[in-house]
Amino acid sequence: MLVVGLVPCVSMRHAVMQNYERRAVGVRTSDITMQLRILANHLITYHYLQDTSSEVVNAEVNQLSTLYDGRVMVINSDLRIVKDTYGISENKTIISEEVVRCARGESTSKYDRDNGYIEMTIPITETADFGEGSGAGDKKEVMRGVMLVSVSTDNIMATLDALNRQTLIIEAIVIVAIVVASVLAARVLIRPFEKITLALDQAQEGYTNDPISVTDVIETERIGDAFNRVLGRMKVLDDSRQEFVSNVSHELKTPITSMKVLADSLINQNDVPIEVYQEFMEDIAKEIEREDKIITDLLSLVKMDRTAADLTITEVDVNVLVELIMRRLRPIAQKRDVELVYESVRPVTAAVDEVKLTLIVSNLVENAIKYNKEHGWVKVTLDADHQFFTVVVADSGIGIPEDSLDHIYERFYRVDKSRSREIGGTGLGLAIAKNAVLMHRGTIKVESVEDEGTVFTVKIPLSYIGTDK
Ligand SMILES: Nc1ncnc2c1ncn2[C@@H]1O[C@H](COP(=O)(O)OP(=O)(O)OP(=O)(O)O)[C@@H](O)[C@H]1O
Ligand SMILES: [Mg+2]
Repeated sequence: MLVVGLVPCVSMRHAVMQNYERRAVGVRTSDITMQLRILANHLITYHYLQDTSSEVVNAEVNQLSTLYDGRVMVINSDLRIVKDTYGISENKTIISEEVVRCARGESTSKYDRDNGYIEMTIPITETADFGEGSGAGDKKEVMRGVMLVSVSTDNIMATLDALNRQTLIIEAIVIVAIVVASVLAARVLIRPFEKITLALDQAQEGYTNDPISVTDVIETERIGDAFNRVLGRMKVLDDSRQEFVSNVSHELKTPITSMKVLADSLINQNDVPIEVYQEFMEDIAKEIEREDKIITDLLSLVKMDRTAADLTITEVDVNVLVELIMRRLRPIAQKRDVELVYESVRPVTAAVDEVKLTLIVSNLVENAIKYNKEHGWVKVTLDADHQFFTVVVADSGIGIPEDSLDHIYERFYRVDKSRSREIGGTGLGLAIAKNAVLMHRGTIKVESVEDEGTVFTVKIPLSYIGTDK
C-alpha cells in the first residue's frame, strides 16, 4: 500500500521538476536571444565592431551582462574579441566550435546543467546593398561578427530547489497520510476477522452454544452464517448419535432385565415345580433370541454406515431370491393366519448385493405379516423395465398413520410402542432396508391407509451404478 502510494508521488515530483527546468531554460534562452538580436543591430548601427568607444552600446552590453548575471563577448569576423564584459579576453582570438559555427550564420545555444550556465551565440549581420545597377537592389545579409554570451542559471536552480523542497514536504505529508490510512484500514479490516476467529475458538472450546454473529462486514457475516449452519448440522448429528446410543442401550438392556427377573424368581423360590421351571426357561430362551436379533440388526446397520462401498455385487436371480425369502417366512405367516401371495411378472436378474437385497425384502415382508390382521393377506410383486426392477410388498394390515409415515425409517422408531413390543419389533428393520436400498442407488416409497393396508415399493437399478466417493 505504501509503495502503491509512494511511486506515483515520487515520479510525479520528478516529472514536475524536469518540466519546470526545461521550460525555465527555454524561456531564458529565447529572452536573451531577443535582447541579443536588438543589441546586434545596435552594434552595426554604431559601427561598434570597428570602434568600441560608443557609450550607448557599451552601456547596453554591460546592462545585458548584469541583467542576466553573465558574460557577453563581441567578436568580429576575424574571430577577435573586441569586447568582453569580464575584460579579460579582449583582443584575443577565439576559436571554439560554437563561435565558428555561428560565424557561418548559425546561432547556437547550449545548456550546461552541471556548471549552471547557458552558453549561446548569435551572428551579427548587416544587410548590405549590392549592385546599384540592378534596379530593385540586391540585398544580402553579410556576416560581420559573433556575439557569445554565457549566463548563469543560478536563479533557475534556486527556484528549482525551492520547488523541490515544497514538493518534498508534500511528499512527506502524503507518505504519512498513506501510512496512517493503511494502518487504520488494516485495523478496521482485520478486526471483524479477529472477532470471528475468537468466536470460532470459543465455539470449538465449547464455551458457548450461541450462534456466531459478527455483522461488521458482509464477509464475516457470511462466514458466521456458514459456520452456524455447520454447527447446526453437527448438533443434529450429535443429538441423533446420543439418541441412538441411548436407544441401543435401552433395547439391549430390556431382554437382560427380563432374564434377570425370571432367573431371580426361580432362584428365590424353593421347591419350584418342574413345569414352572420349564415355562420360565422357555421365556428366558425367547429373551435370548430377542437379544440376538437386536445385536444382529445393529451390526448390519453399523456395517452399512461405515462404508457404503462395501457391497458385494453379483448377478442375482431376483425371482429365486424372493421365492426363497417367501418360503422361509411362510410358517410365520401361517401362524398368524396370513395368506402369502407371490406374483412374478417376468424373470429378473440384477447386479446387486445378495445379502442386502435379502435384508430389504425379508424386512418388508416380515413387517407386512407382523402388522397384519387376522385372515389378512400379503402380496409381493416383482417386475422390471429395461432399467430398474421393482419389488412391491402390499398388505391388508393395520396401516400406518399419516404423521408417522415420515418417521418409519428412523432407527428404533415404532408407531405403536406397546403393540410393537408385543409383536417383538425393535424399530430397526426399515432403517436397515432403507440403507440397503440407498446403497444400491434405489428408492423406497410407502403408501398406507390406516386399517386398510400398506404398500411398500422398492425400485433398484438392474445394473449397479457405483458410488460417487
Ligand atoms: N407393513 C406395515 N404395516 C403397518 N405398520 C408398519 C408396517 N411396516 C412397518 N410398520 C411400522 O413401522 C415401524 C417400524 O418398522 P421397522 O421394521 O423399522 O421396525 P419393527 O418392525 O418394529 O422392528 P424390527 O423390524 O427391527 O424387528 C413398525 O414398528 C410399525 O409400527
Ligand atoms: Mg420390522
